[in-house]
Amino acid sequence: MEVLNERLFSQHEADLLFEIILNRRDVRGNRFSDRLIEEEKISQILLAAVNAPSVGFSQPWEFVLVKSKEIKEQIKNTFNEENEKAAALFKDEKQREYNRLKLEGIFEAPLNIAIFYSDVDKPVLGQTSMMEVGLYSVVCAIQNMWLMARALNIGMGWVSIIDPEKVKRILKAPENKKLVGYFCLGYTDGFLKQPELELLKWEKRKGMSEMIFNDTY
Ligand SMILES: Cc1cc2nc3c(=O)[nH]c(=O)nc-3n(C[C@H](O)[C@H](O)[C@H](O)COP(=O)(O)O)c2cc1C
Repeated sequence: MEVLNERLFSQHEADLLFEIILNRRDVRGNRFSDRLIEEEKISQILLAAVNAPSVGFSQPWEFVLVKSKEIKEQIKNTFNEENEKAAALFKDEKQREYNRLKLEGIFEAPLNIAIFYSDVDKPVLGQTSMMEVGLYSVVCAIQNMWLMARALNIGMGWVSIIDPEKVKRILKAPENKKLVGYFCLGYTDGFLKQPELELLKWEKRKGMSEMIFNDTY
């Protein structure tokens, strides 16, 4: 049986992947349109997710697709509570700037997806010294989704300013599930050319030399 994959990519295809990576953006409620995402595109985004690498091929990811207005309302309530606490951590002008930011698109996005890590009750190959690698596997799936969505011109935004235990209760998640992230997906009126937080001068992009070291730090 031939198991080697003979598919090689051209420079053009590699450039295309790089372009998708560079053009991916976090999309928030100020940019979502209410156009519904076609079912086959949702399936493609989820298929991209489950083809991510995972420790010991454990595939520890689970997805709750949320379209219900009532559920979105409950999620938005926990966002509002947590966001108020978050604003209090910043002071003066930074707090005023924080309060002007739109940091979620729960209502505006036609589709919300809560992504969970599902813990198993047996040893997982590779997840024996660094237990958090199960969670990292879920984040690999999330990045695949983000890139696939962008390739389909669908916006996706991460909402982390929520109480994970409240979200678990709202979504009736069993005890052994851990919320990794809550996402808003939908078509957008446009992707920004740079991260919004960079455009608003909240943060600067780091230079490569600040982040890359040879042999030792
Ligand atoms: C783990 C994680 C959590 C994030 N949480 C939020 C969030 O709660 N609200 C928000 O507006 N953006 C959130 N973001 C998006 C970041 O602000 C965004 O990725 C960053 O500013 C860079 O912009 P870009 O994704 O458009 O390149 C999150 C991103 C990551 C990776």
